[in-house]
Amino acid sequence: MRSEGSSMRHAAIIGWGAYAPPAVLSNDDLASVIDTNDEWITTRSGIKERRISHVTNSDMATAAARHALAAANLDAGDMDLIIVATCSPDRAVPSVAAYVQRELGGLGATMDINAACSGFVYALSVANGMIAAGTADRALVIGAERLSSFLDLEDRTTAVLFGDGAGAVVVEATDGPEGVLSSNLHSDGSLTEILTIRGAGTEGVFAADVPTTVDMEGREVFRNAVTRMGEGAVVAIDNAGLEVDDIDVLISHQANIRIIDATAKRLNVDPENVYTNIHAYGNTSAASIPIALSEAVDQGVVKPGSLVAMVAFGGGLTWGAAIVRWGDRVERLRTTDSRLPGTDKTGLELLADRVQGLGL
Ligand code: UT7
Repeated sequence: MRSEGSSMRHAAIIGWGAYAPPAVLSNDDLASVIDTNDEWITTRSGIKERRISHVTNSDMATAAARHALAAANLDAGDMDLIIVATCSPDRAVPSVAAYVQRELGGLGATMDINAACSGFVYALSVANGMIAAGTADRALVIGAERLSSFLDLEDRTTAVLFGDGAGAVVVEATDGPEGVLSSNLHSDGSLTEILTIRGAGTEGVFAADVPTTVDMEGREVFRNAVTRMGEGAVVAIDNAGLEVDDIDVLISHQANIRIIDATAKRLNVDPENVYTNIHAYGNTSAASIPIALSEAVDQGVVKPGSLVAMVAFGGGLTWGAAIVRWGDRVERLRTTDSRLPGTDKTGLELLADRVQGLGL
Protein backbone atom coordinates (compact mmCIF):
# COMPACT_ATOMS: atom_id res chain seq x y z
CA MET A 1 0.00 0.00 0.00
CA ARG A 2 1.33 3.46 -0.77
CA SER A 3 0.14 6.97 -0.10
CA GLU A 4 1.50 10.03 -1.81
CA GLY A 5 2.82 13.10 -0.04
CA SER A 6 1.16 16.32 -1.12
CA SER A 7 -0.03 19.71 0.04
CA MET A 8 -3.53 18.22 0.37
CA ARG A 9 -5.09 17.66 3.76
CA HIS A 10 -3.05 15.25 5.90
CA ALA A 11 -2.05 14.63 9.54
CA ALA A 12 0.54 16.63 11.50
CA ILE A 13 1.93 15.49 14.85
CA ILE A 14 1.12 18.12 17.48
CA GLY A 15 1.51 16.14 20.72
CA TRP A 16 3.76 13.34 21.94
CA GLY A 17 4.24 11.34 25.14
CA ALA A 18 5.37 8.04 26.65
CA TYR A 19 4.98 5.87 29.69
CA ALA A 20 7.72 3.51 30.87
CA PRO A 21 6.78 1.27 33.82
CA PRO A 22 9.14 1.87 36.77
CA ALA A 23 10.23 -1.74 37.46
CA VAL A 24 13.51 -2.54 35.71
CA LEU A 25 14.65 -6.03 34.71
CA SER A 26 18.38 -6.02 33.94
CA ASN A 27 20.34 -8.55 31.91
CA ASP A 28 21.98 -9.69 35.16
CA ASP A 29 18.53 -10.21 36.71
CA LEU A 30 17.63 -12.48 33.80
CA ALA A 31 20.96 -14.28 34.06
CA SER A 32 20.07 -15.14 37.67
CA VAL A 33 17.10 -17.24 36.48
CA ILE A 34 17.95 -18.43 32.96
CA ASP A 35 21.07 -19.57 31.12
CA THR A 36 22.19 -16.28 29.62
CA ASN A 37 24.60 -13.45 30.35
CA ASP A 38 24.88 -9.68 29.99
CA GLU A 39 27.68 -9.93 27.44
CA TRP A 40 25.68 -12.11 25.00
CA ILE A 41 22.53 -10.02 25.24
CA THR A 42 24.42 -6.72 24.89
CA THR A 43 26.54 -7.72 21.92
CA ARG A 44 23.79 -9.61 20.02
CA SER A 45 20.94 -7.17 20.60
CA GLY A 46 22.10 -3.93 22.29
CA ILE A 47 19.70 -4.49 25.19
CA LYS A 48 20.92 -3.81 28.77
CA GLU A 49 17.59 -3.72 30.58
CA ARG A 50 13.84 -3.60 30.01
CA ARG A 51 10.75 -2.59 32.00
CA ILE A 52 8.16 -4.99 33.41
CA SER A 53 4.72 -3.48 33.89
CA HIS A 54 2.75 -3.75 37.12
CA VAL A 55 -0.32 -2.26 35.42
CA THR A 56 -2.41 -3.28 32.41
CA ASN A 57 -1.66 -2.47 28.79
CA SER A 58 -4.58 0.00 28.77
CA ASP A 59 -3.25 1.73 31.91
CA MET A 60 0.08 2.29 30.14
CA ALA A 61 -1.67 3.42 26.95
CA THR A 62 -3.77 5.88 28.95
CA ALA A 63 -0.73 7.29 30.75
CA ALA A 64 1.13 7.87 27.47
CA ALA A 65 -2.01 9.42 25.96
CA ARG A 66 -2.33 11.88 28.85
CA HIS A 67 1.19 13.15 28.17
CA ALA A 68 0.56 13.44 24.41
CA LEU A 69 -2.75 15.28 24.92
CA ALA A 70 -1.12 17.69 27.38
CA ALA A 71 1.69 18.39 24.90
CA ALA A 72 -0.99 19.34 22.34
CA ASN A 73 -3.06 21.17 24.99
CA LEU A 74 -6.11 19.13 23.97
CA ASP A 75 -8.51 16.75 25.69
CA ALA A 76 -9.64 13.28 24.67
CA GLY A 77 -13.04 14.86 23.96
CA ASP A 78 -11.35 16.69 21.06
CA MET A 79 -10.38 13.39 19.40
CA ASP A 80 -12.45 11.94 16.54
CA LEU A 81 -10.46 8.75 16.70
CA ILE A 82 -8.34 6.76 19.14
CA ILE A 83 -6.23 3.98 17.62
CA VAL A 84 -4.03 1.72 19.70
CA ALA A 85 -1.43 -0.41 17.95
CA THR A 86 -0.94 -3.50 20.07
CA CYS A 87 -0.60 -7.27 19.97
CA SER A 88 -0.92 -7.67 23.74
CA PRO A 89 -4.35 -6.19 24.55
CA ASP A 90 -5.96 -6.54 28.00
CA ARG A 91 -8.81 -8.52 26.44
CA ALA A 92 -10.05 -9.65 23.02
CA VAL A 93 -13.05 -7.32 23.56
CA PRO A 94 -13.17 -4.41 24.10
CA SER A 95 -10.18 -2.81 22.44
CA VAL A 96 -7.44 -1.09 24.42
CA ALA A 97 -8.53 2.09 22.64
CA ALA A 98 -12.00 1.78 24.19
CA TYR A 99 -10.42 1.52 27.64
CA VAL A 100 -8.35 4.62 26.96
CA GLN A 101 -11.56 6.43 26.05
CA ARG A 102 -13.25 5.12 29.20
CA GLU A 103 -10.49 6.74 31.26
CA LEU A 104 -10.05 9.95 29.29
CA GLY A 105 -13.50 10.62 27.83
CA GLY A 106 -14.82 11.50 24.38
CA LEU A 107 -17.10 9.84 21.85
CA GLY A 108 -14.81 9.44 18.84
CA ALA A 109 -14.18 6.10 17.13
CA THR A 110 -11.96 3.61 18.95
CA MET A 111 -10.08 0.64 17.56
CA ASP A 112 -6.94 -1.45 17.96
CA ILE A 113 -4.62 -2.43 15.15
CA ASN A 114 -2.47 -5.55 15.26
CA ALA A 115 0.47 -5.43 12.89
CA ALA A 116 2.78 -6.66 15.67
CA CYS A 117 5.91 -4.49 15.96
CA SER A 118 4.96 -2.50 12.82
CA GLY A 119 1.68 -1.51 14.46
CA PHE A 120 2.46 2.12 15.22
CA VAL A 121 3.52 2.91 11.65
CA TYR A 122 0.35 1.17 10.42
CA ALA A 123 -1.83 3.08 12.93
CA LEU A 124 -0.27 6.43 12.05
CA SER A 125 -0.87 5.68 8.37
CA VAL A 126 -4.53 4.75 9.01
CA ALA A 127 -5.09 7.93 11.06
CA ASN A 128 -3.44 9.95 8.30
CA GLY A 129 -5.69 8.29 5.71
CA MET A 130 -8.85 9.02 7.71
CA ILE A 131 -7.78 12.62 8.18
CA ALA A 132 -6.99 12.95 4.46
CA ALA A 133 -10.42 11.49 3.64
CA GLY A 134 -12.11 13.99 5.94
CA THR A 135 -13.57 11.39 8.31
CA ALA A 136 -11.50 12.72 11.22
CA ASP A 137 -9.88 16.03 12.15
CA ARG A 138 -7.91 14.88 15.17
CA ALA A 139 -6.70 11.51 16.38
CA LEU A 140 -4.82 9.96 19.25
CA VAL A 141 -2.44 7.29 17.95
CA ILE A 142 -0.92 5.05 20.60
CA GLY A 143 1.46 2.09 20.63
CA ALA A 144 1.19 0.04 23.83
CA GLU A 145 2.49 -3.41 24.70
CA ARG A 146 2.77 -5.72 27.67
CA LEU A 147 4.82 -8.44 26.00
CA SER A 148 6.29 -9.56 29.33
CA SER A 149 3.01 -11.51 29.61
CA PHE A 150 4.14 -13.73 26.73
CA LEU A 151 7.76 -14.44 27.68
CA ASP A 152 8.92 -18.05 27.58
CA LEU A 153 11.70 -18.26 30.13
CA GLU A 154 12.64 -21.67 28.81
CA ASP A 155 13.52 -20.08 25.47
CA ARG A 156 16.53 -17.87 26.11
CA THR A 157 16.67 -16.71 22.49
CA THR A 158 13.40 -14.76 22.92
CA ALA A 159 13.00 -14.23 26.68
CA VAL A 160 15.80 -11.68 26.83
CA LEU A 161 14.45 -9.44 24.07
CA PHE A 162 11.07 -8.01 25.05
CA GLY A 163 9.78 -5.39 27.47
CA ASP A 164 6.71 -3.29 28.30
CA GLY A 165 5.77 0.33 27.63
CA ALA A 166 3.59 2.78 25.73
CA GLY A 167 3.99 5.84 23.55
CA ALA A 168 1.45 8.15 21.91
CA VAL A 169 1.03 11.03 19.50
CA VAL A 170 -1.81 13.45 18.81
CA VAL A 171 -2.34 14.24 15.14
CA GLU A 172 -4.39 17.00 13.58
CA ALA A 173 -5.48 17.87 10.04
CA THR A 174 -3.31 20.36 8.18
CA ASP A 175 -2.62 21.34 4.58
CA GLY A 176 0.74 22.79 5.55
CA PRO A 177 4.22 21.45 4.74
CA GLU A 178 4.54 19.57 8.05
CA GLY A 179 3.07 16.17 8.92
CA VAL A 180 2.87 12.68 7.41
CA LEU A 181 4.22 13.07 3.87
CA SER A 182 4.00 9.43 2.87
CA SER A 183 3.78 5.92 4.19
CA ASN A 184 4.51 2.50 2.82
CA LEU A 185 3.03 -0.64 4.39
CA HIS A 186 3.62 -4.26 3.48
CA SER A 187 3.29 -7.80 4.75
CA ASP A 188 4.48 -11.21 3.58
CA GLY A 189 1.88 -13.69 4.78
CA SER A 190 4.04 -16.63 3.73
CA LEU A 191 6.18 -15.86 6.81
CA THR A 192 3.46 -16.04 9.48
CA GLU A 193 5.15 -18.86 11.37
CA ILE A 194 8.57 -17.29 11.93
CA LEU A 195 7.19 -14.98 14.62
CA THR A 196 4.05 -15.97 16.46
CA ILE A 197 2.21 -16.14 19.79
CA ARG A 198 -0.14 -19.07 19.30
CA GLY A 199 -2.28 -19.56 22.37
CA ALA A 200 -3.29 -15.97 23.08
CA GLY A 201 -6.01 -16.15 20.40
CA THR A 202 -8.85 -18.59 19.81
CA GLU A 203 -6.44 -21.42 18.98
CA GLY A 204 -5.73 -21.46 22.69
CA VAL A 205 -9.46 -21.85 23.46
CA PHE A 206 -9.74 -25.04 21.44
CA ALA A 207 -6.47 -26.62 22.54
CA ALA A 208 -5.30 -26.00 26.08
CA ASP A 209 -1.73 -27.05 25.36
CA VAL A 210 -1.07 -24.29 22.81
CA PRO A 211 1.70 -22.13 24.30
CA THR A 212 0.91 -18.48 25.02
CA THR A 213 4.51 -17.44 24.57
CA VAL A 214 6.57 -15.81 21.83
CA ASP A 215 7.88 -18.30 19.29
CA MET A 216 10.44 -16.78 16.93
CA GLU A 217 13.01 -17.88 14.39
CA GLY A 218 15.34 -15.03 15.27
CA ARG A 219 17.79 -15.39 12.38
CA GLU A 220 15.02 -15.51 9.76
CA VAL A 221 13.29 -12.48 11.25
CA PHE A 222 16.62 -10.66 11.39
CA ARG A 223 17.43 -11.43 7.75
CA ASN A 224 14.03 -10.31 6.47
CA ALA A 225 13.96 -7.26 8.72
CA VAL A 226 17.21 -5.80 7.43
CA THR A 227 16.18 -6.18 3.79
CA ARG A 228 12.50 -5.30 4.01
CA MET A 229 12.71 -2.36 6.39
CA GLY A 230 15.38 -0.67 4.27
CA GLU A 231 13.36 -1.29 1.07
CA GLY A 232 10.16 0.05 2.66
CA ALA A 233 11.88 3.20 3.85
CA VAL A 234 13.38 3.91 0.43
CA VAL A 235 9.97 3.54 -1.25
CA ALA A 236 8.28 5.80 1.34
CA ILE A 237 10.98 8.45 0.82
CA ASP A 238 10.46 8.21 -2.93
CA ASN A 239 6.65 8.42 -2.52
CA ALA A 240 7.18 11.70 -0.65
CA GLY A 241 9.16 13.04 -3.62
CA LEU A 242 12.35 13.13 -1.54
CA GLU A 243 15.82 11.61 -1.63
CA VAL A 244 17.36 9.28 0.93
CA ASP A 245 19.89 12.00 1.80
CA ASP A 246 17.05 14.36 2.82
CA ILE A 247 16.27 12.29 5.95
CA ASP A 248 17.40 14.11 9.12
CA VAL A 249 16.34 11.70 11.86
CA LEU A 250 15.80 7.94 11.91
CA ILE A 251 13.32 6.55 14.43
CA SER A 252 13.50 2.80 13.92
CA HIS A 253 11.63 0.02 15.65
CA GLN A 254 13.92 -0.95 18.55
CA ALA A 255 14.39 -4.70 18.11
CA ASN A 256 18.12 -5.11 17.65
CA ILE A 257 20.88 -2.49 17.53
CA ARG A 258 22.50 -4.32 14.61
CA ILE A 259 19.28 -4.01 12.57
CA ILE A 260 19.01 -0.30 13.43
CA ASP A 261 22.66 0.29 12.45
CA ALA A 262 22.17 -1.50 9.11
CA THR A 263 19.07 0.60 8.34
CA ALA A 264 20.85 3.83 9.31
CA LYS A 265 23.67 2.95 6.93
CA ARG A 266 21.24 2.25 4.10
CA LEU A 267 19.49 5.60 4.66
CA ASN A 268 22.81 7.40 5.16
CA VAL A 269 21.74 8.94 8.47
CA ASP A 270 24.53 10.12 10.83
CA PRO A 271 24.72 8.15 14.10
CA GLU A 272 23.84 11.23 16.19
CA ASN A 273 20.55 11.49 14.28
CA VAL A 274 19.59 7.87 14.87
CA TYR A 275 17.64 7.84 18.10
CA THR A 276 18.05 4.58 20.01
CA ASN A 277 16.81 3.55 23.44
CA ILE A 278 16.87 -0.23 23.00
CA HIS A 279 19.47 -0.47 25.78
CA ALA A 280 16.88 0.84 28.27
CA TYR A 281 13.62 -0.77 27.13
CA GLY A 282 14.43 -3.78 24.93
CA ASN A 283 11.87 -4.54 22.24
CA THR A 284 8.51 -3.01 23.20
CA SER A 285 6.95 -3.97 19.85
CA ALA A 286 4.36 -1.42 18.67
CA ALA A 287 5.29 0.92 21.55
CA SER A 288 8.94 1.27 20.56
CA ILE A 289 8.61 3.93 17.84
CA PRO A 290 6.30 6.31 19.74
CA ILE A 291 8.44 5.99 22.90
CA ALA A 292 11.60 6.70 20.88
CA LEU A 293 9.94 9.56 19.02
CA SER A 294 8.73 11.19 22.21
CA GLU A 295 12.19 10.99 23.78
CA ALA A 296 13.88 12.19 20.58
CA VAL A 297 11.70 15.31 20.51
CA ASP A 298 12.23 16.04 24.21
CA GLN A 299 15.99 15.56 23.86
CA GLY A 300 16.30 17.88 20.86
CA VAL A 301 17.23 15.18 18.33
CA VAL A 302 14.05 16.04 16.40
CA LYS A 303 14.29 19.75 15.60
CA PRO A 304 11.80 22.20 14.07
CA GLY A 305 11.33 21.14 10.43
CA SER A 306 13.27 17.84 10.78
CA LEU A 307 12.46 15.18 8.22
CA VAL A 308 11.86 12.05 10.26
CA ALA A 309 11.80 8.49 8.90
CA MET A 310 9.93 5.98 11.08
CA VAL A 311 10.61 2.41 10.05
CA ALA A 312 9.37 -0.87 11.48
CA PHE A 313 9.00 -4.61 10.97
CA GLY A 314 7.35 -7.36 12.97
CA GLY A 315 5.22 -10.51 13.08
CA GLY A 316 3.15 -11.15 9.98
CA LEU A 317 5.78 -10.59 8.64
CA THR A 318 4.83 -6.93 8.45
CA TRP A 319 6.97 -3.93 7.63
CA GLY A 320 6.39 -0.29 6.96
CA ALA A 321 7.72 3.24 6.96
CA ALA A 322 6.29 6.69 7.47
CA ILE A 323 8.01 9.91 6.45
CA VAL A 324 7.07 12.85 8.66
CA ARG A 325 8.09 16.49 8.42
CA TRP A 326 8.15 17.86 11.97
CA GLY A 327 6.41 21.21 12.52
CA ASP A 328 7.84 24.33 14.16
CA ARG A 329 7.05 23.32 17.71
CA VAL A 330 9.25 20.94 19.70
CA GLU A 331 8.07 22.16 23.11
CA ARG A 332 5.09 20.74 24.97
CA LEU A 333 2.24 23.23 25.30
CA ARG A 334 1.43 21.71 28.67
CA THR A 335 2.76 18.92 30.87
CA THR A 336 0.79 16.69 33.20
CA ASP A 337 1.84 15.41 36.61
CA SER A 338 -0.74 12.62 36.39
CA ARG A 339 0.86 9.43 37.72
CA LEU A 340 -0.08 5.76 37.84
CA PRO A 341 0.14 4.00 41.20
CA GLY A 342 3.74 2.82 41.73
CA THR A 343 5.01 -0.61 42.71
CA ASP A 344 7.42 -1.81 45.38
CA LYS A 345 8.20 -4.93 43.36
CA THR A 346 11.31 -5.45 41.28
CA GLY A 347 11.12 -6.42 37.61
CA LEU A 348 12.12 -9.96 38.55
CA GLU A 349 9.40 -10.20 41.20
CA LEU A 350 6.76 -8.96 38.74
CA LEU A 351 7.94 -11.53 36.21
CA ALA A 352 7.79 -14.26 38.86
CA ASP A 353 4.16 -13.34 39.56
CA ARG A 354 3.20 -14.38 36.06
CA VAL A 355 5.74 -17.03 35.12
CA GLN A 356 5.35 -20.30 36.97
CA GLY A 357 8.49 -22.10 38.04
CA LEU A 358 10.71 -19.04 38.07
CA GLY A 359 12.03 -20.22 41.40
CA LEU A 360 11.73 -17.00 43.40
O1 UT7 B 1 10.41 -6.99 16.64
C1 UT7 B 1 10.59 -8.06 15.79
C2 UT7 B 1 10.97 -9.20 16.63
N1 UT7 B 1 12.19 -9.83 16.51
C3 UT7 B 1 13.42 -9.41 16.19
O2 UT7 B 1 13.67 -8.36 15.77
C4 UT7 B 1 14.51 -10.34 16.38
C5 UT7 B 1 15.41 -10.48 15.19
N2 UT7 B 1 16.51 -11.38 15.51
C6 UT7 B 1 17.50 -11.04 16.34
O3 UT7 B 1 17.53 -9.94 16.86
C7 UT7 B 1 18.62 -12.05 16.56
O4 UT7 B 1 18.44 -13.13 15.69
C8 UT7 B 1 18.69 -12.55 18.04
C9 UT7 B 1 19.17 -11.44 18.96
C10 UT7 B 1 17.33 -13.06 18.47
C11 UT7 B 1 19.68 -13.71 18.13
O5 UT7 B 1 20.95 -13.30 17.66
P1 UT7 B 1 21.76 -14.23 16.65
O6 UT7 B 1 23.04 -13.58 16.42
O7 UT7 B 1 20.85 -14.48 15.46
O8 UT7 B 1 21.98 -15.53 17.50
P2 UT7 B 1 21.53 -17.05 17.21
O9 UT7 B 1 20.05 -17.19 17.42
O10 UT7 B 1 22.07 -17.45 15.90
O11 UT7 B 1 22.28 -17.83 18.37
C12 UT7 B 1 23.71 -17.86 18.43
C13 UT7 B 1 24.13 -18.65 19.66
C14 UT7 B 1 23.47 -20.02 19.76
O12 UT7 B 1 24.44 -20.91 20.27
P3 UT7 B 1 25.21 -21.93 19.28
O13 UT7 B 1 24.12 -22.74 18.64
O14 UT7 B 1 25.94 -21.04 18.33
O15 UT7 B 1 26.09 -22.69 20.23
C15 UT7 B 1 22.42 -19.83 20.82
O16 UT7 B 1 22.11 -21.02 21.51
O17 UT7 B 1 23.78 -17.95 20.86
C16 UT7 B 1 23.07 -18.82 21.74
N3 UT7 B 1 22.06 -18.05 22.47
C17 UT7 B 1 22.28 -17.48 23.67
N4 UT7 B 1 23.32 -17.46 24.49
C18 UT7 B 1 23.22 -16.77 25.64
C19 UT7 B 1 20.82 -17.73 22.05
N5 UT7 B 1 20.20 -16.95 22.97
C20 UT7 B 1 21.09 -16.78 23.98
C21 UT7 B 1 21.04 -16.08 25.21
N6 UT7 B 1 22.13 -16.11 25.98
N7 UT7 B 1 19.94 -15.38 25.58
